Amino acid sequence: MIIYKSDTEGIKAEQLKGFFDGWPDPPSQETHLQILQNSAFIILAIDDKTNKVIGFVNAISDKILSAYIPLLEVLPKYQKHGIGKELMTRMLNKLSKLYMIDLCCDEPLQSFYQKFGLSRMPAMGKRNFTFQKGDI
Ligand SMILES: CC(C)(COP(=O)(O)OP(=O)(O)OC[C@H]1O[C@@H](n2cnc3c(N)ncnc32)[C@H](O)[C@@H]1OP(=O)(O)O)[C@@H](O)C(=O)NCCC(=O)NCCS
Repeated sequence: MIIYKSDTEGIKAEQLKGFFDGWPDPPSQETHLQILQNSAFIILAIDDKTNKVIGFVNAISDKILSAYIPLLEVLPKYQKHGIGKELMTRMLNKLSKLYMIDLCCDEPLQSFYQKFGLSRMPAMGKRNFTFQKGDI
């Protein structure tokens, strides 16, 4: 069974294996835990058989007007079972009273996010690849 949790209480770095698939210089599991701890809102999906985190979404926010969703990921073995949808649904419920909810994604994923009522819009961004794994 998949359990959903919205805090990092009791979560250890070793439970966060396998994320940042395809990233050339990914954050360590310890850094991943700090990212989750520093986020305004998170949802974790945990496989109760293994006690591993198998999916997560985070949001950074001023908690008044705006939130940005930087990361959403479900481990490949668990994809296409509705877990990504559940993570996004739960996160958007948490953010439902905010005016601006933004994220960036590649074009093939736009149809995924449109299912949740998000619209395509122009954006600007910058990536400092030197710090991809987190500068801590
Ligand atoms: C994107 C991702 C989170 C989806 O998670 P998932 O658990 O496989 O998705 P779900 O099974 O909940 O799918 C929900 C719906 O989205 C659709 N969907 C899933 N992945 C999709 C994709 N990559 N592109 C378009 N639609 C997608 C499903 O077909 C399903 O549609 P339905 O409700 O009409 O049946 C997952 O594929 C992933 O972690 N990818 C790698 C990391 C990534 O790209 N994250 C997003 C960064 S912006």
